[in-house]
Order: sequence, then C-alpha cells, then structure tokens
Amino acid sequence: MNKKMNRRSFLRSTAAAGAGLVLAPNVIAQATGNSKADSLNIALLGAGAQGQVLLDSCLRIPGLRFRAVCDIWTAYNQKRVTRLLKKYRHEVNAYVDYAEMLDKEKDLDAVIIATPDFWHAEHTVACLEAGLHVYCEKEMSNTLEGARRMLQAARKTGKLLQVGHQRRSNPRYIHCLDKLIKQAKLLGRITTINAQWNRSARPDNGWPKNAAIDQATLNKYGFESMHQFRNWRWYKGLGGGPIVDLGSHQIDVFNWFLGAGPKSVIASGGTDYYEKSTHQWYDTVMAIYEYDYEYDQGKKQTVRAFYQTITTNSSNGYYENFMGDEGTLHISESAGRGAVYREPSAPDWEKWVKAGFLNAPTEQKSDSTDAVLDVRETIAPPAYELPIKMARKYHQPHLENFFDAVRGRAKLNCPPEVAYESAVSVLKVNQAVEAARKLDFKPEEFKV
Ligand SMILES: NC(=O)c1ccc[n+]([C@@H]2O[C@H](COP(=O)([O-])OP(=O)(O)OC[C@H]3O[C@@H](n4cnc5c(N)ncnc54)[C@H](O)[C@@H]3O)[C@@H](O)[C@H]2O)c1
Repeated sequence: MNKKMNRRSFLRSTAAAGAGLVLAPNVIAQATGNSKADSLNIALLGAGAQGQVLLDSCLRIPGLRFRAVCDIWTAYNQKRVTRLLKKYRHEVNAYVDYAEMLDKEKDLDAVIIATPDFWHAEHTVACLEAGLHVYCEKEMSNTLEGARRMLQAARKTGKLLQVGHQRRSNPRYIHCLDKLIKQAKLLGRITTINAQWNRSARPDNGWPKNAAIDQATLNKYGFESMHQFRNWRWYKGLGGGPIVDLGSHQIDVFNWFLGAGPKSVIASGGTDYYEKSTHQWYDTVMAIYEYDYEYDQGKKQTVRAFYQTITTNSSNGYYENFMGDEGTLHISESAGRGAVYREPSAPDWEKWVKAGFLNAPTEQKSDSTDAVLDVRETIAPPAYELPIKMARKYHQPHLENFFDAVRGRAKLNCPPEVAYESAVSVLKVNQAVEAARKLDFKPEEFKV
C-alpha cells in the first residue's frame, strides 16, 4: 500500500513535466526506498540533442543521481535539461564552464560528455584528471592528437573512459559476432562488406531567435556564429562531416567484426549539394577499405569494405552487410532490420535454428517464376531473422556497461584503445578524399 502511494504520488508530482517526458524507474526505485548502496553521482557535460538522448537512457538505469549539468547554451539546452532533472528530483547545479563545475562539484563519480567533437579531448582530459570516470560520445576526437591525449590521460589517471560507439554493447550485434560469425561460422569466409548511411536532404539546424548566445560567449567557446554553433559538424576544425558523424559507427563495426583495423583506404567525396561555405566537410563520401582478415588461424583473406554516406537521399537508410562465401549478415541499429541469408551452396542451417541462433527462415518473394532459369540464381535466398530484438533505447546497454564497469562489475566494451583504432580508420577517409589516392595504414598508426 505504502509502495503504491509512493509511486502514485511520484507520478502525480512528475505529471507536470508533461507528455513525452521519460519515465524514470530509478526515481521510482528511490521514492520506494530501494537500495542506494550503488548510487553514483553524475554530471552531464553537453546537454544538446545527444546529451538528452543519453539522459533519457540514464534515467532508466537504477542508482544514478545527477548532480550537475554544464552547457554553454543557458537559454535553451541548459535550462531545458536542468528543469527536467529537477522535475525528476535530481538536485542539479547548472554551469556554463566545465572548469567551474569541476572546481565546485567535489562529490562526482562520473561525467557524461556530449559536447561537439572538437571539445572532447579538453573536456575528457580535464574530467579524468579531476579523478572522474568518463563516458564520452564518439567521435573520440576530431583530431588524432586529441584522441591520443584522451587515451594517455585515461592510462595516467587509471580512470575509466568509455567512448560512445554504442553498437559494441548492443546484444544483437554481440550475438551476430559471437554466435553467428565466430561460433557457427554461418558466413563462411567473409570476403566483402558494404554499408551505408543515406539521409534525406534537410535544412541546417536553426535556433529560437530569442535564445541566441551572445557573440563574446560564442567566440570564447570556439564558435564564430550561431549558425556554426548549431551546425558544427559541417565545419573543419569542429567536426568531421557525415563520414565521421555517421560513418564512425559503422566503420567501427567493420574493425570490431574483422578483429583488425584496415590496411588501406581510397575515397571519393565532396560538397556536391549544399553551400560550400557553410558545409566545409563533404556531403557525399564513398570509401573502399581493404582489410587483411584472419578468417581462420593463420589464414588470411583480403576483405574489401565499401562504405557510403550521402545526405541528399535516404534510399535504404543505414545498415551493414557482411558477405561471405556461405552467407550474408544484414544488420542495422534500425530495429526492423537484421537477418542472415544462406548461400545455396552452404551447409544446412537447421541445427542453428534448433539451437536458437536464428529464427526459422521465411521465403523471399521471387521476381521470376520461370522454371527454365537456374532458380538458385533467380530466387532471393530465404531470410533467417535474428532471434534478439533491438533494444528500443539502444544507447542504454552501452551506458549500463559503463556504469557496471565503474562499479567494478564489468569490463568496458569501448575503452580508449578500441575507440582510437576506430578514429584512425575513420579520420583517414577525409584525408583520402583530399589526397585523391589510396592511403595505407601502418600497423603502428593504430597504437599509442
Ligand atoms: N552515439 C550516437 O549515436 C550519437 C548521436 C548523435 C551525436 N553524437 C555525438 O554527441 C556529441 C554531441 O552531439 P549533438 O548532436 O548533441 O550536438 P548539439 O550541438 O545538439 O549539442 C552540443 C551541446 O554542447 C553544448 N556545448 C558546446 N560547447 C560546449 C562547451 N565548451 N562546454 C559546455 N557545453 C558546450 C552546446 O550548447 C549544446 O547544447 C557529438 O560528439 C556527436 O558526435 C553521438
């Protein structure tokens, strides 16, 4: 009864927060007197679009108590997030400058960083040196020099640094790698990858005119204008364009699934559609990597991995296709996509269906019923769907992995060494576009 009343009064007290706001089971847990033994004090540094997505997931993870929010956009993101957290009974202090936050908040355990890429190195290094564990969004940094400093600071301080390549904690991706590729070897020998993130044309990000940041503050934090502040991804020196913003997730999966970084990359790209002065990074990029893939002990196969990101058309959305001589894995963070397709010559997969690795196949529609043709070539192979559903809040498992590691119960799924390899692989695409030739990776480039 008491429990019910508490929950009811909690719901009543948060109803004012309005429709569309998140449910916060940890708040419910605290209101109902659940254990606080594992409680962690958290700050959010960068409360923009992604900061709010991460916050939404954090509010579903028990034992987290937000104590501070730091964001330079006081009239908008900072205000919005601070208000929201207070409604959920997190007594947060708001800051504009991270140094002041670190100076005043002496009770923090960890910081979640979701500022623009060019701030990641400075913010991460300062937080680690202040003795805090850090979850920092991808791209680790917009420069390799910055990424190296982050890794070195993590090593020096002994604090944890998780980088936000969240697919690394996604149960569906983990199932594909551990069970389908490594254990059952359903793809046979992987030879080719193709992946993409295609997005519709869209206008630049705007801002409510009455919430503009003054020029002196913009300049102090590295932005020339409100347009640049809201669209930092497109600017050289601040972001890396769509190949870094979107491609980094998927190219990281190439490295993860193949167990190695690439040996070369060739790429073509340009700002073909948008205004060049405000879209300094390329709106269209097509890249081909070569990997030396060790598919069996001591046996290697060259894998060519094609990746494209276009920002003018959303055809087929985003996915990664891993193709081997026995099957194809089609995987995406997008919930409705995830299946394996058997090549006609591959051994039967019945035992893997029985073992729960895959769902029973569904026949694909054929565009030809002509019996004279070779049906093995003309009928699309059956789709064996993945038995594991995509988590609706797909950042949550990665955050949970981070907090479990902070509590000493797990190993990080994306420590800085892993994220650094990914940054080396991704940042070179922009260089390859500029160089207009194939660029090689030396093995030592991936190490710090
Ligand atoms: N993992 C993912 O799927 C994913 C998705 C989107 C974005 N991201 C990453 O999250 C980060 C943030 O992206 P976003 O889309 O939220 O950008 P955004 O522009 O919406 O938000 C950035 C926020 O940081 C604040 N800010 C900027 N400089 C600051 C500073 N020096 N100190 C304090 N606050 C500062 C801004 O006021 C803004 O509120 C980027 O690194 C981006 O790559 C990751």
